[in-house]
Amino acid sequence: MVDVGGFDLTRLTPGFLADPYPTYRALREQNPVRRMPDGSLFLTRYADLARVYRDTQTFSSDKAVEFRPKFGDTPLYEHHTTSLVFNDPPRHSRVRRLIAGALTPRAIGGMEAGLVALVDRLLDRMAARTDLIADFAAAIPIEVIGNLLGVPPGEREPLRGWSLAILGALEPVVTPTAALRGNQAVTEFLDYLAVLTADRRARPADLDRDVLTRLLQADPDGDRLTQAELLHNCIFLLNAGHETTTNLIGNGLVALAQHPAERARLLADPGLVRSAVEEALRFESSNQLGNRITTASAALGGTTYPAGTPVTLCIGAANRDPAVFADPDRFDIGRSPNRHLAFAAGIHQCVGMSLARLEGAVAIGRFVARYPHYALARPPVRGMRARFRGFAAVPAVLNG
Ligand code: HEM
Repeated sequence: MVDVGGFDLTRLTPGFLADPYPTYRALREQNPVRRMPDGSLFLTRYADLARVYRDTQTFSSDKAVEFRPKFGDTPLYEHHTTSLVFNDPPRHSRVRRLIAGALTPRAIGGMEAGLVALVDRLLDRMAARTDLIADFAAAIPIEVIGNLLGVPPGEREPLRGWSLAILGALEPVVTPTAALRGNQAVTEFLDYLAVLTADRRARPADLDRDVLTRLLQADPDGDRLTQAELLHNCIFLLNAGHETTTNLIGNGLVALAQHPAERARLLADPGLVRSAVEEALRFESSNQLGNRITTASAALGGTTYPAGTPVTLCIGAANRDPAVFADPDRFDIGRSPNRHLAFAAGIHQCVGMSLARLEGAVAIGRFVARYPHYALARPPVRGMRARFRGFAAVPAVLNG
């Protein structure tokens, strides 16, 4: 059993970043409400996460106070504190209603044909030796969200770099270089979106298909996003849907390569792809950590903690909790039920989950069908981030 006496989220080892699950397991068993040296709590039990997600009165998502010393008066601070994910009701409910209203099932359903065509184009041009991340997984979400917001294809090149820089500054430890990159990325992104939205205001696109045109509209009650809410939440949509979905596709393809019996099962029954995606989300959750802060004293694991205690929700650990998932370290593409927390739960549950599931199913399903004998050429290279779990590179041979 791993010794978790010294576990500290701000001092993670390469071994942990490569495979955090033995540590998560030891924490869940020995110290499920772990007090960190900085006074924050690290939760690893499913039941504790489910409770925190439900109790939004006691466990706040608002980062206005917590992020002040971390980011100062910077573009990153303004960005995060204006994004819906880091706000509480009533501000959160208002922005969420306007965004969820734009991401309708119809808008998402309307994207499927384009997504299939994009995935097939990528599959057609893949070389026999390839990198499953650069040449496939990372190329999909950026195009999908580019389409969602109507970013012209020729202008998409900087989106991935901006997104990675902004999310990189959300790691538990932020270096000055990471902060500088993140701030530059927010500023450049805002400048770009100001022009894009002004243009769309002047020339609205098809209301049924174009999410940005919908975001610019007032809702039936006459409410609409302010300019700052609009721009920062567009950045957030791009970020939220980009690395997470890249990692879902990459993690799913690696897991299938490493579990040949499960891959054979999927090939024999392609209808399992939706449940294979759910299992990839549970087994290697692409977003491993969530954060809340207590607004009042709260009892967790038999101890009462004061208001103002930061709480880290370890989704990756909860999704392998044997109290909820039988044989949790087993990758089982037919697992049912599979009520994982990869998209969180409660009022902040992922707005883009239907889109992410669709992208995962189309990308993984069509890849495996086209290249049923793909194999890892070398050990995949981990992204080495604690929050966003995925691979930086996955060298593979397609007919191996
Ligand atoms: C596999 C892919 C994805 C994963 C694992 C994921 C995961 C999550 C999680 C865990 C949260 C809750 C954060 C919290 O409250 O602590 C969240 C929120 C959110 N996600 Fe996703 N996400 C994915 C894809 C997407 C996509 C494709 C979009 C949009 C295009 C999106 C948009 C959002 C938004 C807007 C929120 C904030 C919701 C709110 O605060 O009410 N996500 N996501």
